[in-house]
Amino acid sequence: MKKITRREALKIAALAGGSVLLPVALQNRGYAQRTDERVEPFTLAFHTPPVLNPVRSDSTTDYYQMTLQRANVEILPGRTTEIWGYNGTFPGPTIKQRQNRQSVVRFINNVGVPTSAHLHGMASLPQYDGYAEDLIPQGYYKDYTYPNPTAATLWYHDHALGQTSVNVYRGLAGMYIVQDDNELNLPLPKDDYDIPLIIQDKIFASNGSLIFDDQAQHGLMGDVITVNGVPWPRMEVANRKYRFRVLNTSVSRSYKLALSTGDDLIVIGTDAGLMSAPVNTRDMRIGMAERYDLIIDFSRYSIGTQVVLQNLGPPNNDNTGNTNKIMRFDVVRSESDNSSIPSTLRNIQFIPESSAVRTRDFTFEQGGNPLWVINGNGWDRNAIDANPQLEEVEIWRLHNNSGLWFHPVHLHLIDAQILDRNGQPPFAYERGLKDVFYVGENETVRIIGRFRPQIGKYMYHCHNMVHEDHDMMRQFEVGQGGIDPLSAPAQPLPAPAL
Ligand code: C2O
Ligand code: CU
Ligand code: CU
Repeated sequence: MKKITRREALKIAALAGGSVLLPVALQNRGYAQRTDERVEPFTLAFHTPPVLNPVRSDSTTDYYQMTLQRANVEILPGRTTEIWGYNGTFPGPTIKQRQNRQSVVRFINNVGVPTSAHLHGMASLPQYDGYAEDLIPQGYYKDYTYPNPTAATLWYHDHALGQTSVNVYRGLAGMYIVQDDNELNLPLPKDDYDIPLIIQDKIFASNGSLIFDDQAQHGLMGDVITVNGVPWPRMEVANRKYRFRVLNTSVSRSYKLALSTGDDLIVIGTDAGLMSAPVNTRDMRIGMAERYDLIIDFSRYSIGTQVVLQNLGPPNNDNTGNTNKIMRFDVVRSESDNSSIPSTLRNIQFIPESSAVRTRDFTFEQGGNPLWVINGNGWDRNAIDANPQLEEVEIWRLHNNSGLWFHPVHLHLIDAQILDRNGQPPFAYERGLKDVFYVGENETVRIIGRFRPQIGKYMYHCHNMVHEDHDMMRQFEVGQGGIDPLSAPAQPLPAPAL
């Protein structure tokens, strides 16, 4: 991989029409050769990942199977890229499940590297949570059981200790949607008008292969923005409302979404499901692993209108080149629209601050070895940072004392809510249930959550996957005597019938 100097990088940034100011955190570090001139934004067709059918179903459970494998695919026109994908695709197939039906998902590892499968957002038992040391080696499989208690946009991804950034970057991520009757009975856009937007930035070498450059463990900044695996796609839409489930699977990049027309995005859902009421916003930040469900109303545009989903470029990302755009919607046909956005989406019981039994402080910062630490510590399977009892409510204060980077902090197992950020209310669109909390530059974010529905050891970490791998990840334990996360190890192939 060719490294370039900062001076060359600045020159390229200027030529690309981007800001000539590199983010402070990127200065003095070379970054990979830019390749974005190889594909013109908005020339490639939008694509929706396929929905995965169960292998079989019984009265309580749907059984799914996916094989992790390498595949050569065309991402850049005329070039071949090796990806590592679930069923050889990036993103992996979407699983759609109904609330309270159980899923059993068999992951078969034929991708050549050890993997751990985590369903992000699911309250899984410890042995099915994709614990970072609970690895599925090449030639092994593991069956994971998921209870699906709440409707939300989730995602599954690799969680192998120290390797998550590489493995997710190469393609090991997919969406998992749980729906319930309440949501399906709302008049929101459905089916063909309810569409995943899985965003990830990438760096390509001139031969089409992926370059993984984490800038000496600081972060990976791709110059090509993909949506559902396609660079800057162009989607043909009707002049009506669509629901988009936006998921940021980028390794290190956050985005600030906005429409080129200046019209509002209508936020109806956060990480852990529908909001209580829709929130209109001109722009919004989305950190790595966050999910926001948005309605875009194309009915106000005449046929022929082009609407760009822009990235206004939050600080401490490399916001040069074409990273200021994500995709384009072309309004090409008229259709009637019987969907609407109810003023009440669901009834969320927010936890009052007074019910917290304690407050804990967690400082996310740069260390030495490892490079990234929480309260001074990196990963240690035998260490427990917090031991709330089952059903206890706690407030966690998440501190980022640096102006040089941001940390989207993720807690496994629980959904929580943001109380405040630097003493101020959170953004209106963050006022739902969440499992990732954007702790921006010099921010302290207070979150409140109830530790349920089961006991056991669970990880929490920064979802900048480069930070997570080096080693900004620790664990808490709910109650005592939970199931050991390592108690259901992967089994060698061949596997018995599901
Ligand atoms: Cu999305 Cu611990 O992960
Ligand atoms: Cu998770
Ligand atoms: Cu971080």
